[in-house]
Amino acid sequence: MKLNRMERLVVNNPLRAMAQQLEALYFKSKAPLASDAQVLEIGCGRGAGAQIIRNKFQPNALHLMDLDIQMIQQAYHFFQNGKSKTVSLHVGDAAYLAFQKDCMDAVFEYGILHHVPDWQRAVSEIARVIKPGGWFIFEELYPGLYQNVVTRRLLDHPVHNRFHSPDFKAELHKSSLFIKDFKEHREIGILGVARKA
Ligand SMILES: C[S@@+](CC[C@H](N)C(=O)[O-])C[C@H]1O[C@@H](n2cnc3c(N)ncnc32)[C@H](O)[C@@H]1O
Repeated sequence: MKLNRMERLVVNNPLRAMAQQLEALYFKSKAPLASDAQVLEIGCGRGAGAQIIRNKFQPNALHLMDLDIQMIQQAYHFFQNGKSKTVSLHVGDAAYLAFQKDCMDAVFEYGILHHVPDWQRAVSEIARVIKPGGWFIFEELYPGLYQNVVTRRLLDHPVHNRFHSPDFKAELHKSSLFIKDFKEHREIGILGVARKA
C-alpha cells in the first residue's frame, strides 16, 4: 500500500535518515557482507536508506524496488540522476519479487512489510531470493505504533491480516530465515538480522 501525504512527511525527512544511520551501525556489526555482495532493498522509498546501505556495506550491486513509481523517481534523483553504476531501480510488489531464486547476499527492509496486505507472501519471496547463508536485515513496526487511536486516523495501512511479534518471528522461521540477533519493543517494533539456512 502506498504512503499517504502524512506518512510521506514522516518518512522523507532528515530525522528518519539519522535513525537509519544508527540502525545501519547495528546491522553491520551483526551481518557483515562481502565486498562482492548482491543486495536488494525492498520498499526503498526515496532512497535515503539505500544511500546508507551503499556507504556502510559497499555492495558490488544494490537493487532497489518500491511499489510506488513516485518513490522510485525520487530515488533516481537521489542517486545522481541514476548514474550510479552499482544501483539499479525497479517498480514492483514485494509479494512478487522479479528476481531469481538464491541470487541475493542480503535483502534489507526498512519498515515496509506492515504496508503489504499479504505480508506472509512477501516474507516467502524474500526467503526465495536470498542465497543460502545470506541475510535478511529488517526494521519492522507493529500495530501498536501505526494503528493506535491517533495513528490510525492519520496514516493509511492495511487493516486486516496484521502481525505482532510472535507472528513475525514465526513467519521468518517458517521460511527458513533464522533470527540471529534482534532488538525489540513488543508494542512498537523490531530491528534485527536473520540468516537463511
Ligand atoms: C514506510 S515507507 C519506508 C520507506 C523507506 N524504506 C524508509 O525507511 O524511509 C514504506 C515504503 O514501502 C513501499 N511499499 C508499500 N507496499 C509495498 C509493496 N507491496 N512492495 C514494495 N514496496 C512497497 C511504499 O511505497 C513506501 O515507499
